[in-house]
Amino acid sequence: MNLIEDLNWRYAVKKYNSEKVSEEKVNNILHAINLSASSCGLQPYRVFAVSNEELKAKLGANSFNGQIADSSHLLVFAAYNSVTTEHVQNLTSLMAEERGVPESALQDFFISIDSYFKTRTDEQNKLWAEKQTYIALGTALIAAANEKVDSTPMEGFDPALFDELLGLQELDLHSTVILSLGYRDHESDYLANLKKVRIPLDEMVTRID
Ligand SMILES: Cc1cc2nc3c(=O)[nH]c(=O)nc-3n(C[C@H](O)[C@H](O)[C@H](O)COP(=O)(O)O)c2cc1C
Repeated sequence: MNLIEDLNWRYAVKKYNSEKVSEEKVNNILHAINLSASSCGLQPYRVFAVSNEELKAKLGANSFNGQIADSSHLLVFAAYNSVTTEHVQNLTSLMAEERGVPESALQDFFISIDSYFKTRTDEQNKLWAEKQTYIALGTALIAAANEKVDSTPMEGFDPALFDELLGLQELDLHSTVILSLGYRDHESDYLANLKKVRIPLDEMVTRID
């Protein structure tokens, strides 16, 4: 299947059947998320993949989205509350290791990134980190469609409840957006057979040649 066919096939599923997504497919989706672009390459977020039934039920308690509990797997995207020197140092060390260069060769890189984030408020950096999670969400949506796994991106959840149940505060993280994975229930999902609705391409795009 080509990319456009994959994207036409996917939709935000409202009702899942009970089939579970294989670990191989979940791992491929997580791998794709890990390969997402992020500003400065800092990847200022973490992803939690929840398949525990009891925990999914608790996470879905305050939400109108039954997909939280009914999905096979639930991916929770959680951004860091702040950008610290430690984050920049960790990336610099990883780059040195992965590329086989001494850390001293990356000193200019470290200083420019570290000092840039220090010119901004924690609130600005937090917002920046949240934006990066949405890039990861986009990658995950495409990866899931490519794996023929259904999914639902959701902002309709209780972030305070998620943060508490997943212990995110202690990790200096907060939940921003979630993606459920599973397989559509063809019979009871009212969206399953409806045409996808998008504004015309030439209304969305202005070409400047
Ligand atoms: C950031 C974001 C948040 C969303 N939140 C919800 C949600 O809480 N519940 C839900 O059923 N769908 C949610 N959606 C799905 C959108 O309604 C859906 O993507 C949109 O209507 C386009 O339709 P399609 O994805 O089925 O093609 C969300 C989508 C995005 C990108």
